[in-house]
Amino acid sequence: MASQTKTYIVEHLDPELGPWSELEYMAIARESQAAGAKFCLSSLPPTFKVPDSLQALPSFTAETRGVEELYANDKARVCLLDPAAASDLSPEDGDKFDVFLFGGILGDDPPRDRTSELRKKGFEGRRLGPVQMTTDTAVRVTRLVVQGKTPLHDIPYLDHPELKFNEHESTQMPFRYVKGDDGKPVMPEGMIDLIRKDSDKAIDDLF
Ligand SMILES: C[S@@+](CC[C@H](N)C(=O)[O-])C[C@H]1O[C@@H](n2cnc3c(N)ncnc32)[C@H](O)[C@@H]1O
Repeated sequence: MASQTKTYIVEHLDPELGPWSELEYMAIARESQAAGAKFCLSSLPPTFKVPDSLQALPSFTAETRGVEELYANDKARVCLLDPAAASDLSPEDGDKFDVFLFGGILGDDPPRDRTSELRKKGFEGRRLGPVQMTTDTAVRVTRLVVQGKTPLHDIPYLDHPELKFNEHESTQMPFRYVKGDDGKPVMPEGMIDLIRKDSDKAIDDLF
């Protein structure tokens, strides 16, 4: 039987920590803490400056070691959330595993399968359904399944939602999100503003 305290570990695979990832990691850290779980960012470059806001959360740890080294003698405790896995995550997986591993990769469209870098390490994999999620959504959904015991197909989702900024401006997100009680996609604090700024910049760059 796996430990009741769950650890969500994001193996950082991008060279830097961009503002999107920072907001995603902050959301994962806050939600993990509220759910009595731990959040670890692994494989960080030694020169990496962890933002103070993250460092301040007691359930958060920053690691320069990679997940292979951290769980070298405990591989069977670790479940890799893998869009290409043969079976989907189920509430019973919460009894089998206590560490859930995610790729610290920004979503891309079409997906480039960078999760394959983690697949090579030989951890058992589970899929969260057929649609690509952002990393914070993937952690949120995993928590709802393994800690909340909600089957994957009972979670309310919003696929490829359109974010409307004003009458003329909107953007469609190429990901699956959890649908919040307000009917909107659940996103990290500050993310909508960042997306709006990024889309304004993309429009400015056209001129
Ligand atoms: C934004 S996704 C990256 C997907 C990506 N395009 C790739 O290159 O693999 C970040 C992480 O969230 C998790 N993830 C996202 N959607 C998933 C799904 N449908 N099933 C399982 N894991 C998923 C995986 O751990 C993945 O590495």
